[in-house]
Amino acid sequence: MNKPVVYITRTLPEAQLQTLADHAEIRMWKEADIPVPEEVLAAEAAEADGLLTMMSDPVTDELLEKAPKLKVIANMAVGYDNIDMKAADRHGVYVCHTPDVLSDTTADLGWTLLLASARQVTSAADYVKAGRWTGWGPFMFAGQQVHQATIGIIGMGSIGTAVARRARGFDMTIYYHNRSRNAAAEEETGAVWMEKNDLLENVDFVVLTAPLTEETKGMIDAEALERMKPTAHLINIARGPLVDEAALENALREKKIAGAGLDVFSNEPIGADHPLLQLENVTALPHIGSAAVPTRQTMIELAGLNIKDVLQGTQPRTAVPEHREKPPRS
Ligand code: DGY
Repeated sequence: MNKPVVYITRTLPEAQLQTLADHAEIRMWKEADIPVPEEVLAAEAAEADGLLTMMSDPVTDELLEKAPKLKVIANMAVGYDNIDMKAADRHGVYVCHTPDVLSDTTADLGWTLLLASARQVTSAADYVKAGRWTGWGPFMFAGQQVHQATIGIIGMGSIGTAVARRARGFDMTIYYHNRSRNAAAEEETGAVWMEKNDLLENVDFVVLTAPLTEETKGMIDAEALERMKPTAHLINIARGPLVDEAALENALREKKIAGAGLDVFSNEPIGADHPLLQLENVTALPHIGSAAVPTRQTMIELAGLNIKDVLQGTQPRTAVPEHREKPPRS
Protein backbone atom coordinates (compact mmCIF):
# COMPACT_ATOMS: atom_id res chain seq x y z
CA MET A 1 0.00 0.00 0.00
CA ASN A 2 1.26 3.49 -0.84
CA LYS A 3 2.27 5.58 2.13
CA PRO A 4 0.50 8.92 2.66
CA VAL A 5 2.40 11.90 1.28
CA VAL A 6 3.66 14.66 3.58
CA TYR A 7 5.10 17.86 2.16
CA ILE A 8 7.53 19.87 4.33
CA THR A 9 8.05 23.50 3.36
CA ARG A 10 11.76 23.67 4.34
CA THR A 11 14.69 21.29 4.32
CA LEU A 12 14.68 19.89 7.84
CA PRO A 13 17.00 17.35 9.48
CA GLU A 14 16.05 13.72 8.94
CA ALA A 15 16.92 12.74 12.52
CA GLN A 16 13.86 14.55 13.92
CA LEU A 17 11.57 13.20 11.21
CA GLN A 18 12.39 9.51 11.57
CA THR A 19 9.08 8.49 13.15
CA LEU A 20 7.11 10.39 10.53
CA ALA A 21 9.22 8.83 7.77
CA ASP A 22 8.23 5.36 9.02
CA HIS A 23 4.60 6.24 8.30
CA ALA A 24 4.70 8.60 5.33
CA GLU A 25 6.48 9.46 2.14
CA ILE A 26 8.24 12.73 2.92
CA ARG A 27 8.73 15.37 0.26
CA MET A 28 10.60 18.60 1.08
CA TRP A 29 11.23 22.04 -0.32
CA LYS A 30 14.91 22.15 -1.29
CA GLU A 31 15.89 25.17 0.80
CA ALA A 32 16.35 25.56 4.56
CA ASP A 33 16.25 29.36 4.79
CA ILE A 34 14.32 30.44 1.69
CA PRO A 35 10.53 30.05 1.78
CA VAL A 36 8.83 27.79 -0.70
CA PRO A 37 7.15 29.85 -3.47
CA GLU A 38 3.38 29.92 -3.04
CA GLU A 39 2.76 28.21 -6.40
CA VAL A 40 5.11 25.35 -5.48
CA LEU A 41 3.39 24.95 -2.11
CA ALA A 42 -0.01 24.90 -3.81
CA ALA A 43 1.12 22.24 -6.32
CA GLU A 44 2.63 20.07 -3.57
CA ALA A 45 -0.39 20.52 -1.29
CA ALA A 46 -2.64 19.32 -4.12
CA GLU A 47 -1.06 15.84 -3.76
CA ALA A 48 -0.39 15.78 -0.03
CA ASP A 49 -2.13 14.10 2.90
CA GLY A 50 -0.18 16.24 5.36
CA LEU A 51 1.73 19.53 5.36
CA LEU A 52 4.47 20.59 7.76
CA THR A 53 4.55 24.38 7.47
CA MET A 54 6.46 27.37 8.87
CA MET A 55 4.76 30.45 10.32
CA SER A 56 5.88 32.35 7.20
CA ASP A 57 3.90 30.08 4.80
CA PRO A 58 0.44 31.46 4.01
CA VAL A 59 -2.08 28.62 3.97
CA THR A 60 -5.06 30.08 2.16
CA ASP A 61 -8.57 28.99 1.27
CA GLU A 62 -7.47 28.79 -2.36
CA LEU A 63 -4.67 26.36 -1.49
CA LEU A 64 -6.95 24.21 0.67
CA GLU A 65 -9.63 24.19 -2.04
CA LYS A 66 -7.19 22.43 -4.36
CA ALA A 67 -5.86 19.96 -1.77
CA PRO A 68 -8.57 17.26 -1.70
CA LYS A 69 -6.54 14.66 0.23
CA LEU A 70 -5.18 17.00 2.88
CA LYS A 71 -6.01 15.92 6.44
CA VAL A 72 -3.52 17.77 8.60
CA ILE A 73 -1.35 20.88 8.72
CA ALA A 74 1.31 20.96 11.41
CA ASN A 75 2.74 24.44 11.84
CA MET A 76 6.26 24.51 13.27
CA ALA A 77 5.39 27.43 15.57
CA VAL A 78 3.07 28.16 18.44
CA GLY A 79 1.38 30.95 16.43
CA TYR A 80 -0.79 29.87 13.50
CA ASP A 81 -2.04 33.19 12.16
CA ASN A 82 -0.57 32.20 8.77
CA ILE A 83 -3.32 29.60 8.39
CA ASP A 84 -6.86 30.49 7.31
CA MET A 85 -8.61 28.66 10.16
CA LYS A 86 -12.13 29.16 8.78
CA ALA A 87 -11.03 27.55 5.51
CA ALA A 88 -9.28 24.70 7.38
CA ASP A 89 -12.55 24.04 9.24
CA ARG A 90 -14.56 24.10 6.04
CA HIS A 91 -12.20 21.59 4.44
CA GLY A 92 -12.06 19.34 7.51
CA VAL A 93 -8.29 19.77 7.95
CA TYR A 94 -6.73 19.46 11.37
CA VAL A 95 -4.38 22.28 12.37
CA CYS A 96 -1.61 21.57 14.87
CA HIS A 97 1.09 23.75 16.41
CA THR A 98 4.05 23.48 18.79
CA PRO A 99 3.08 25.15 22.08
CA ASP A 100 5.02 24.99 25.36
CA VAL A 101 8.20 23.40 23.97
CA LEU A 102 9.42 26.84 22.85
CA SER A 103 8.20 28.95 25.78
CA ASP A 104 11.42 29.13 27.79
CA THR A 105 13.57 29.74 24.71
CA THR A 106 11.26 32.51 23.50
CA ALA A 107 11.19 34.06 26.98
CA ASP A 108 15.01 33.98 27.01
CA LEU A 109 15.01 35.95 23.76
CA GLY A 110 12.44 38.39 25.13
CA TRP A 111 14.77 39.02 28.03
CA THR A 112 17.74 39.38 25.69
CA LEU A 113 15.84 42.14 23.88
CA LEU A 114 14.67 43.77 27.11
CA LEU A 115 18.18 43.96 28.51
CA ALA A 116 19.67 45.04 25.18
CA SER A 117 17.10 47.81 24.76
CA ALA A 118 17.34 49.03 28.37
CA ARG A 119 21.13 49.09 28.41
CA GLN A 120 21.67 50.15 24.76
CA VAL A 121 23.75 47.05 24.18
CA THR A 122 23.73 46.96 20.37
CA SER A 123 24.57 50.67 20.01
CA ALA A 124 27.35 50.37 22.58
CA ALA A 125 28.78 47.25 20.93
CA ASP A 126 28.70 48.92 17.49
CA TYR A 127 30.43 51.96 19.00
CA VAL A 128 33.32 49.87 20.27
CA LYS A 129 33.69 47.92 17.02
CA ALA A 130 33.62 51.13 14.97
CA GLY A 131 36.64 52.41 16.96
CA ARG A 132 34.65 55.34 18.36
CA TRP A 133 35.46 54.61 22.01
CA THR A 134 37.97 57.25 22.96
CA GLY A 135 37.43 57.43 26.71
CA TRP A 136 35.16 56.49 29.60
CA GLY A 137 32.29 58.86 30.41
CA PRO A 138 30.09 58.89 33.53
CA PHE A 139 26.86 58.81 31.52
CA MET A 140 28.14 57.19 28.35
CA PHE A 141 25.47 54.69 27.24
CA ALA A 142 23.78 55.05 30.61
CA GLY A 143 20.37 53.40 30.13
CA GLN A 144 17.41 52.26 32.18
CA GLN A 145 17.78 50.20 35.31
CA VAL A 146 16.25 46.75 34.95
CA HIS A 147 16.40 45.21 38.42
CA GLN A 148 13.58 46.28 40.73
CA ALA A 149 11.80 47.96 37.81
CA THR A 150 8.20 47.23 36.84
CA ILE A 151 7.34 44.91 33.97
CA GLY A 152 3.96 44.59 32.22
CA ILE A 153 3.33 41.45 30.21
CA ILE A 154 0.52 41.52 27.66
CA GLY A 155 -0.55 37.93 27.02
CA MET A 156 -0.13 35.61 30.01
CA GLY A 157 0.06 32.21 28.39
CA SER A 158 2.99 29.86 28.56
CA ILE A 159 5.52 32.35 27.10
CA GLY A 160 4.22 35.24 29.21
CA THR A 161 4.51 33.10 32.33
CA ALA A 162 8.09 32.18 31.40
CA VAL A 163 8.90 35.90 30.98
CA ALA A 164 7.38 36.60 34.41
CA ARG A 165 9.36 33.78 36.01
CA ARG A 166 12.58 35.42 34.80
CA ALA A 167 11.41 38.84 36.04
CA ARG A 168 11.33 37.47 39.59
CA GLY A 169 15.08 36.91 39.38
CA PHE A 170 15.44 40.62 38.64
CA ASP A 171 13.35 41.47 41.70
CA MET A 172 10.76 43.22 39.55
CA THR A 173 7.16 44.16 40.20
CA ILE A 174 5.15 42.16 37.67
CA TYR A 175 1.84 43.18 36.12
CA TYR A 176 0.06 41.43 33.28
CA HIS A 177 -2.91 41.87 31.04
CA ASN A 178 -4.77 38.96 29.52
CA ARG A 179 -8.35 38.41 28.35
CA SER A 180 -8.87 36.07 31.28
CA ARG A 181 -7.00 35.91 34.57
CA ASN A 182 -4.25 33.28 34.83
CA ALA A 183 -4.48 32.10 38.45
CA ALA A 184 -1.63 29.60 38.11
CA ALA A 185 0.74 32.28 36.75
CA GLU A 186 -0.34 34.70 39.46
CA GLU A 187 0.37 32.16 42.15
CA GLU A 188 3.70 31.07 40.72
CA THR A 189 5.16 34.45 39.76
CA GLY A 190 3.30 36.97 41.88
CA ALA A 191 2.11 38.74 38.72
CA VAL A 192 -0.90 41.01 39.23
CA TRP A 193 -3.61 41.45 36.55
CA MET A 194 -4.23 45.00 35.34
CA GLU A 195 -6.40 46.76 32.79
CA LYS A 196 -4.36 47.33 29.65
CA ASN A 197 -4.34 51.13 29.90
CA ASP A 198 -3.31 51.09 33.56
CA LEU A 199 -0.52 48.67 32.75
CA LEU A 200 0.76 50.84 29.90
CA GLU A 201 0.82 53.89 32.15
CA ASN A 202 2.59 52.25 35.06
CA VAL A 203 5.31 49.94 33.85
CA ASP A 204 8.93 50.43 32.75
CA PHE A 205 8.90 47.53 30.29
CA VAL A 206 5.93 46.40 28.21
CA VAL A 207 6.46 42.89 26.84
CA LEU A 208 4.08 41.57 24.17
CA THR A 209 3.51 37.82 24.12
CA ALA A 210 -0.13 37.68 22.96
CA PRO A 211 -1.17 35.77 19.84
CA LEU A 212 -2.23 37.71 16.74
CA THR A 213 -6.03 37.75 16.57
CA GLU A 214 -8.67 40.23 15.38
CA GLU A 215 -8.75 41.45 18.99
CA THR A 216 -4.99 41.96 19.45
CA LYS A 217 -4.18 43.36 15.99
CA GLY A 218 -3.01 46.98 16.33
CA MET A 219 -3.45 46.92 20.14
CA ILE A 220 -0.31 49.04 20.54
CA ASP A 221 -1.39 52.07 18.55
CA ALA A 222 -0.61 55.79 18.89
CA GLU A 223 -2.95 56.13 21.85
CA ALA A 224 -1.40 53.16 23.67
CA LEU A 225 2.13 54.49 23.06
CA GLU A 226 1.04 57.91 24.29
CA ARG A 227 0.12 56.30 27.62
CA MET A 228 3.56 54.76 28.16
CA LYS A 229 6.22 56.49 30.27
CA PRO A 230 8.91 58.40 28.32
CA THR A 231 11.45 56.13 30.01
CA ALA A 232 9.63 52.91 29.07
CA HIS A 233 10.64 50.25 26.55
CA LEU A 234 8.39 48.13 24.34
CA ILE A 235 9.46 44.55 23.66
CA ASN A 236 7.64 42.54 20.99
CA ILE A 237 8.29 38.80 20.75
CA ALA A 238 4.76 37.96 19.59
CA ARG A 239 3.68 39.11 16.12
CA GLY A 240 4.46 42.36 14.28
CA PRO A 241 0.85 43.38 13.55
CA LEU A 242 0.12 43.76 17.28
CA VAL A 243 1.90 47.10 16.92
CA ASP A 244 1.10 50.02 14.63
CA GLU A 245 4.64 50.42 13.30
CA ALA A 246 4.15 53.96 11.96
CA ALA A 247 2.90 55.07 15.39
CA LEU A 248 5.82 53.28 17.07
CA GLU A 249 8.33 54.97 14.79
CA ASN A 250 6.80 58.32 15.64
CA ALA A 251 6.82 57.60 19.39
CA LEU A 252 10.47 56.53 19.29
CA ARG A 253 11.56 59.44 17.11
CA GLU A 254 9.82 61.95 19.37
CA LYS A 255 11.16 60.16 22.49
CA LYS A 256 7.63 59.52 23.76
CA ILE A 257 9.07 56.16 24.80
CA ALA A 258 12.73 55.33 25.38
CA GLY A 259 13.25 52.28 23.21
CA ALA A 260 11.90 49.20 21.49
CA GLY A 261 13.22 45.67 21.20
CA LEU A 262 11.57 43.96 18.26
CA ASP A 263 11.88 40.36 17.12
CA VAL A 264 8.82 40.52 14.86
CA PHE A 265 7.50 42.89 12.21
CA SER A 266 4.35 43.40 10.16
CA ASN A 267 6.19 42.42 7.01
CA GLU A 268 8.99 39.92 7.39
CA PRO A 269 11.75 40.15 6.42
CA ILE A 270 11.71 43.88 7.16
CA GLY A 271 13.61 45.92 4.55
CA ALA A 272 16.92 47.50 5.63
CA ASP A 273 15.54 50.90 4.57
CA HIS A 274 12.50 50.65 6.89
CA PRO A 275 12.24 53.84 9.00
CA LEU A 276 12.19 51.84 12.27
CA LEU A 277 15.62 50.41 11.50
CA GLN A 278 17.11 53.88 11.10
CA LEU A 279 16.46 54.68 14.77
CA GLU A 280 19.21 54.34 17.38
CA ASN A 281 16.68 53.34 20.06
CA VAL A 282 15.43 50.28 18.15
CA THR A 283 16.98 46.86 18.72
CA ALA A 284 15.84 44.60 15.89
CA LEU A 285 16.15 40.84 15.42
CA PRO A 286 15.03 38.55 12.56
CA HIS A 287 12.20 36.63 14.32
CA ILE A 288 14.46 34.26 16.25
CA GLY A 289 12.37 33.86 19.41
CA SER A 290 12.49 30.08 19.45
CA ALA A 291 15.80 29.74 17.58
CA ALA A 292 17.86 27.54 19.89
CA VAL A 293 18.99 24.27 18.33
CA PRO A 294 17.39 21.83 20.81
CA THR A 295 14.14 23.81 20.80
CA ARG A 296 13.93 23.83 17.03
CA GLN A 297 14.70 20.09 16.96
CA THR A 298 11.90 19.44 19.44
CA MET A 299 9.49 21.61 17.42
CA ILE A 300 10.28 19.65 14.24
CA GLU A 301 9.81 16.33 16.01
CA LEU A 302 6.53 17.44 17.57
CA ALA A 303 5.18 18.73 14.24
CA GLY A 304 6.07 15.39 12.63
CA LEU A 305 4.38 13.43 15.42
CA ASN A 306 1.21 15.51 15.07
CA ILE A 307 1.04 14.61 11.38
CA LYS A 308 1.67 10.94 12.12
CA ASP A 309 -1.10 10.95 14.75
CA VAL A 310 -3.68 12.29 12.31
CA LEU A 311 -2.58 10.03 9.47
CA GLN A 312 -3.00 7.08 11.86
CA GLY A 313 -6.50 8.27 12.72
CA THR A 314 -5.80 9.40 16.28
CA GLN A 315 -6.14 12.77 18.00
CA PRO A 316 -2.93 14.79 17.43
CA ARG A 317 -1.01 15.58 20.60
CA THR A 318 -0.94 19.35 20.11
CA ALA A 319 -3.85 20.40 17.92
CA VAL A 320 -4.55 24.16 18.04
CA PRO A 321 -7.08 25.01 20.80
CA GLU A 322 -9.98 25.22 18.30
CA HIS A 323 -9.29 21.65 17.10
CA ARG A 324 -8.60 19.88 20.37
CA GLU A 325 -11.99 18.21 20.47
CA LYS A 326 -12.33 17.69 16.73
CA PRO A 327 -12.57 14.10 15.46
CA PRO A 328 -10.14 13.20 12.66
CA ARG A 329 -11.54 13.30 9.15
CA SER A 330 -12.15 9.75 7.94
C1 DGY B 1 6.15 30.89 17.02
O1 DGY B 1 6.35 29.73 17.37
O2 DGY B 1 5.02 31.33 16.83
C2 DGY B 1 7.36 31.72 16.82
O3 DGY B 1 7.05 33.02 16.50
C3 DGY B 1 8.22 31.09 15.76
O4 DGY B 1 9.55 31.15 16.14
